[in-house]
Amino acid sequence: MKETLFAKAKEVRLNAYAPYSNFKVGAAILSENNKIYTCCNVENGAYPSGTCAEQGAISTMIAGGCKKIKEILIIGDSKNLVSPCGACRQRISEFSTKDTIVHIANLDGIQTTSNFDELLPINFMLRT
Ligand code: THU
Repeated sequence: MKETLFAKAKEVRLNAYAPYSNFKVGAAILSENNKIYTCCNVENGAYPSGTCAEQGAISTMIAGGCKKIKEILIIGDSKNLVSPCGACRQRISEFSTKDTIVHIANLDGIQTTSNFDELLPINFMLRT
């Protein structure tokens, strides 16, 4: 499955709109209902109005009727890990369980795989 997530995220990354940072990101989510939802970053001339790839993929999942992330893969073209930003960690947290898996990849393949807990321990949740 992680190979499929990698291929889908790599493909959608090419559609990223990133003329300001020139940094294209793709994200692919495997949801609880075993569907895959993808998105890319969409920047804006009013910089803070831009959206991250993870953010778009989560919105697509919610619009598709699912609310749980089994696995998420994020891909960028970098030697450094394209690890989800703080705001996206919180966004992922809303739809994660202790078993949610996060893969981080570059164009060559998956670099790290971790439990979401490791990326955002002691996360904030409004509801129990
Ligand atoms: N970006 C993402 O889409 N996801 C991340 O996890 C990190 C950063 C985007 C935001 C912006 O369009 C570009 O990458 C550079 O920060």
